[in-house]
Amino acid sequence: MIVARPEEFAGVVADAVESLVRRRPTPVLGLATGSSPLPVYDELVRRHGRGGLSFAATTAFLLDEYVGLPFDHPESYRAVIEREFTGRVDFDQQRVHGPDGQDTDLHAACAAYEAAIVEAGGIDLQLLGVGGDGHIGFNEPGSSLASRTRLKTLTAQTRLDNARFFDSLDAVPRHVLTQGVGTILEARHLVLVATGEVKAAAVASLVEGPVTAFFPASALQLHPHVSVVIDEPAAGQLRLADYYREAYAGKPPWQTL
Ligand code: GLP
Repeated sequence: MIVARPEEFAGVVADAVESLVRRRPTPVLGLATGSSPLPVYDELVRRHGRGGLSFAATTAFLLDEYVGLPFDHPESYRAVIEREFTGRVDFDQQRVHGPDGQDTDLHAACAAYEAAIVEAGGIDLQLLGVGGDGHIGFNEPGSSLASRTRLKTLTAQTRLDNARFFDSLDAVPRHVLTQGVGTILEARHLVLVATGEVKAAAVASLVEGPVTAFFPASALQLHPHVSVVIDEPAAGQLRLADYYREAYAGKPPWQTL
């Protein structure tokens, strides 16, 4: 859906998360780092603060993690998600999982992560952002559409994009662990968020382009329940934008994201 006002964006996604968390006794959320989901986390924190919305019974799985950064490094995704979201609400931190990029056996760490997701009953709702090159999680171009959690090498562009969070480009790790595209596609509901003109080309490719490993986010077209929530600038290159606006405006009231 294309939201007309930026304030609307976080509310729509927070509604989907809230409804899941209230509906399921033991909800399982897939969390994404990056700047795109931050307004959603802020909105969920507000709803928690106003009372009523509790994450005490929720389990969370992160999409990805840098290899070699200790958990207490401020840019490890475990630290980022605790700072931006889970540590600001009543999450039990024992229930917040991420791939272990410090394990001496990274293959085993990836297999254990896949097993933990299955053990939790699978992911109910997976939040996603998209990289300019089409990566979801850290599945860079060329990632198998059937891939599972594994080690990946970041592209030079992704390292440049993420250098703003580190002291220097050299400090950005080259390797990461990420849920595979196949892992992501097993979540029951995928919610991808993107805002700003800078994401317009990526949004057009993922929604309207061919399904290709060269643009991993396009694999979302294979999933039965995907919501792409974007603002007007991010919708700037969609050929069928008018149709999407019309469909959303005319949506029956019982139909949620
Ligand atoms: C990072 C993360 C992704 C994220 C993407 C886009 O590299 N691994 O999960 O979706 O970049 O980030 P942003 O939302 O800041 O544009």
